[in-house]
Amino acid sequence: MKGLIFTELLAMADEAVGEDRVDHVISGCPLSGGGAYSAVGNYPSSDLIALVQGFSGETGLSVADLQKAFGHWMLKYFSSSYTHFFITKRTAFELLESVEEEIHVEVKKLHQDVDLPTFESTFPSPGVMVLTYRSRRGLVDFCEGLIEATLDHYGEKGTITRDVRQLENLTVADFTITLEAVK
Ligand code: HEM
Repeated sequence: MKGLIFTELLAMADEAVGEDRVDHVISGCPLSGGGAYSAVGNYPSSDLIALVQGFSGETGLSVADLQKAFGHWMLKYFSSSYTHFFITKRTAFELLESVEEEIHVEVKKLHQDVDLPTFESTFPSPGVMVLTYRSRRGLVDFCEGLIEATLDHYGEKGTITRDVRQLENLTVADFTITLEAVK
């Protein structure tokens, strides 16, 4: 997994609990390379799980809540670092649909070594999108945080429900996003 994901996770943790407690968590986690990350490096995704578990132990927040919070953090990071993907879309649904067709395609061109999830979009009725996530990593809560934050980014409100299943080594999650009716 790209180092920038780790440097951002540690930046979020620094802001939330301070550097000393972050160092304390890092020293107690079984991490590749001792917990030093460079934005351009590549590291095992097991480090991400270990760090999130470590922060959960340190803060008392659940792993699910931390993954979600990290999803919100990363969407802010992406929208300020990769503005062009966001300003060319008018709605959250347009942006979410473009993750598979455009955004992650560009990410893959830049970094051949990434292991990205796949997404499928369907629109069963007006104002409803079903986004199907498939990944060997099973970062379902992180993904939900990214989706929530995408709605926030476009100033939209809606509810998200999910149906998660395991197909051999793949985690599959159908996220149903229902926009609040505009009055
Ligand atoms: C400009 C916007 C975005 C950029 C530049 C981007 C880029 C990336 C990168 C670099 C990774 C790490 C892959 C690796 O290291 O192997 C990643 C992972 C991921 N991205 Fe995106 N992404 C963007 C938007 C989104 C959005 C809006 C979603 C939500 C639907 C999303 C869902 C995910 C998920 C869930 C992962 C974790 C990997 C997994 O679960 O298998 N991304 N993305």
